[in-house]
Amino acid sequence: MKKAKTGPNAVGHNSVLSAVTTALFDMFSNKGQLEPLNDQQRIDGKVCLVTGANSGLGKSIAIQLAKRGGHVIMACRSGVPEAGEEVKRLSGSHKVEMIKVDLSDLDSVSELCDTLRDRKISIDIAIMNAGLMPLNSRPSAQGYELMFAVHFLANRLMLHRWCQDGVIKPSTSNSGTPRVIFVSSEAHQSSDPINFSKLGEYVEYGIKDGLRHYGTSKLHLSTFASELSRRLNPDWTDNSGHVDIAVHSLCPGPIASNIARESPGFLKPILNPIMSLFFNSPDKAAAPVMLLACAENMGYRTGVYLHMMREKTCSEHASNPSNGNQIWESSQPLLADYIGSEHAPKKAAQQKKKNTTPA
Ligand SMILES: NC(=O)c1ccc[n+]([C@@H]2O[C@H](COP(=O)([O-])OP(=O)(O)OC[C@H]3O[C@@H](n4cnc5c(N)ncnc54)[C@H](OP(=O)(O)O)[C@@H]3O)[C@@H](O)[C@H]2O)c1
Repeated sequence: MKKAKTGPNAVGHNSVLSAVTTALFDMFSNKGQLEPLNDQQRIDGKVCLVTGANSGLGKSIAIQLAKRGGHVIMACRSGVPEAGEEVKRLSGSHKVEMIKVDLSDLDSVSELCDTLRDRKISIDIAIMNAGLMPLNSRPSAQGYELMFAVHFLANRLMLHRWCQDGVIKPSTSNSGTPRVIFVSSEAHQSSDPINFSKLGEYVEYGIKDGLRHYGTSKLHLSTFASELSRRLNPDWTDNSGHVDIAVHSLCPGPIASNIARESPGFLKPILNPIMSLFFNSPDKAAAPVMLLACAENMGYRTGVYLHMMREKTCSEHASNPSNGNQIWESSQPLLADYIGSEHAPKKAAQQKKKNTTPA
């Protein structure tokens, strides 16, 4: 196994330390910050699905979307129904429901997709937020490393199925462009490049290597997000053209959430005060997600990457189309039992073209 990134092979930052330093600088500086979403912006009637909405960032996003008039579907493994009741109470909206899903189990992900398809749900805003930082490597239900399964594979399957089943449909006008937002992390910038020939191979790691593997799983996610944006929007090139389905991603910055729940007991007395003093609250950390999900101008663009409230570029490795194509193709066989052989997103874009071509 290769050592952690400290040299020129890193795909973005040269080290985890440089990523953390950049994050802290960005947190305390106002330079280049985007304006947060204004209070008047409403999303009445829009169907919003949020994964991992029972805790931390996801719960705050669910509350904020519901307050703005969205019909919120909380796709969660735990907290059913308590978290949903809390989101209803804190948002003052009754348009909140929960669907149970374990994203580390592709059978469970498929069941969620079946439910959405059978209920003929049409998603306007999808926030792919669920994430974790395990203390040690563990296998998913199908034997993949847990972060690979939850951060990448589950999202890959959901987007394929949603496009195939018409759960998410390309827009015919600029005003109603559906959006898919991936919650990634700047840690993707300090990962080793992806080894496509070993994609999905189980890796063992312990507490010392966990952060590096977290970064790698977020690199998988960011590379997939860039490719999805290109595949779903064949008419969008060089920052102009029509956006069929806007695909954006972001790093929310350090959040005082439950992400470090597996950290060893002896670290907690140090970690907890640091998190509550220096990390953003989930409400504050939700600002870039809300901007990407609800701001009108973000429906006219695709492939935007925010680091907190700054627009940046994701790593060169993640935005490289050749890497995007490779992650797409190499992950196809891993999902063979669940998706068949078609390229659903391309199909969805072509279907939309057919619908809009005059007879
Ligand atoms: N916290 C940070 O400093 C930070 C920084 C950068 C990026 N992020 C990203 O932000 C996102 C939200 O994390 P957070 O900070 O809000 O952490 P959190 O409070 O621990 O929330 C994580 C959410 O993901 C869900 N989840 C994990 N594994 C799942 C599975 N197998 N199936 C379904 N849901 C699952 C959790 O559900 P359970 O409660 O059932 O486990 C929980 O709802 C993550 O993608 C994380 O990587 C966080």
